[in-house]
Amino acid sequence: MTQDELKQAVARAAIDYVPTGEIIGVGTGSTANFFIDELGKIKDRVKGAVASSEATADRLRSHGIPVLDLNDVDAMSIYIDGADEITASGAMIKGGGAALTREKIVASVAKQFICIADGSKLVDVLGAFPLPIEVIPMAQAAVARKLKTLGGEPRLRVKDGKPVMTDNGCVIIDLVGLRITDPSKLEAEINNIVGVVTVGLFAQRGADVALLGTAEGVKTLSF
Ligand code: 5RP
Repeated sequence: MTQDELKQAVARAAIDYVPTGEIIGVGTGSTANFFIDELGKIKDRVKGAVASSEATADRLRSHGIPVLDLNDVDAMSIYIDGADEITASGAMIKGGGAALTREKIVASVAKQFICIADGSKLVDVLGAFPLPIEVIPMAQAAVARKLKTLGGEPRLRVKDGKPVMTDNGCVIIDLVGLRITDPSKLEAEINNIVGVVTVGLFAQRGADVALLGTAEGVKTLSF
């Protein structure tokens, strides 16, 4: 099976977790896109969705799924999103699509985080994937200096010769070369640096369920 077929399989499996008549949280990225396309097929089951990015909001609307402002939503039972890496205890690196802050915010309001990913995202130790950190633009150099002391190599994310700007008007620094043995501690440490908006470590609030696509079928891990 191709990686896209594995992503599609987990997106389909995630539909079983969608509650009837409720609002759900929806993540960002290629796996989340497959999920949105599946959700489009059963769109009358949900009242609407809260999007973790402008791209996700556009895709939800293109399927006729109402997109709600998080400020108008008190609670959600599920948040469904992909990950760049996930451990067997549900800690994740996210933010490959630069949507980490909104993803963390929407996930924080949901009772359950359902992670959907192809099996290659399951790792023993987080850090082979560069750790994304959203940063206020004026603090970029100051934050990069502090990040260096943590042992990794900070790299400003650039596309087409320009810094990638997030939906929040911030930049992304990717921290390369880490071996993250205590993700919760590092999450707190990086979030504590002045100028950091959010680090893409989801450990203090990790996944509750992971649906992982493998050649043998979709594997479910509960944490
Ligand atoms: C976006 C994310 C994505 O969930 C993560 O990058 C995984 O993406 P994909 O499903 O395309 O592999 O965190 O900010």
